[in-house]
Amino acid sequence: MVIVGDDPASQVYVKNKEKACEAVGFNSFKYALPAETTEEELLALVDKLNNDDRVDGILVQLPLPKHLDDKIIINNIRVDKDVDAFHPVNVGKIMIGDYSFLPCTPAGVMELIKSTGTEVAGKECVVIGRSNIVGKPQAMLLLHENGTVTITHSKTKDLKAVCRRADILVAAVGRARMVKADYIKEGAVVIDVGMNRDENGKLCGDVDFEDCKEKAGFITPVPGGVGPMTIAMLMKNTLTAGKEHHGIK
Ligand code: GUN
Repeated sequence: MVIVGDDPASQVYVKNKEKACEAVGFNSFKYALPAETTEEELLALVDKLNNDDRVDGILVQLPLPKHLDDKIIINNIRVDKDVDAFHPVNVGKIMIGDYSFLPCTPAGVMELIKSTGTEVAGKECVVIGRSNIVGKPQAMLLLHENGTVTITHSKTKDLKAVCRRADILVAAVGRARMVKADYIKEGAVVIDVGMNRDENGKLCGDVDFEDCKEKAGFITPVPGGVGPMTIAMLMKNTLTAGKEHHGIK
């Protein structure tokens, strides 16, 4: 795990990933680099980890400080160690449905949907947000399960009406408690990927849980919903990478 700078949220995420590694019995090595680390220095570390046989998975926590380009760094992570599935080769594999690593958060969301017993095939699925980390790959995974998928974003007209069509609604937009009861269909599966601070500094999702909990068929809380699933999927990807590197079936 590589973390650059001192973004407080990133520090919490990395700490939780370290704890998860310990819980499942993986060795983890944390590289905490100062905010002023240069691209050259970071690439040198990535290269070292790419060539370190003790390392099966590499994770560079995002966002990076502004002077560093996420794309350049991610492009230099070995594809078979890219347990976040952020490298363009892995992103392309997700697109065509031929993958060894699933993107962690979208894969965690799929597990949550599966746990409700809801069949995705034929359902109206609406994803709020089109980020490369969640919105876009989420839409792909729902599509692979034969959902009818709509991706919405800031330019979407009448977002509320589009969301109300959803049998499965995934909110990944980054706006505190934006999704209210009038955005959801009675009985819908509502998955909240948001991780925001409200005006009092309290951690909250993109969905107003209290407002929606009676109307939704299933709804995930923040914290304690998607977050732990993301980490579980990261462990799964790392196990997949480890097995592949060590020739274990
Ligand atoms: N920043 C926010 N989510 C993630 C994630 O899943 N992986 C990494 N590396 N950085 C993130």
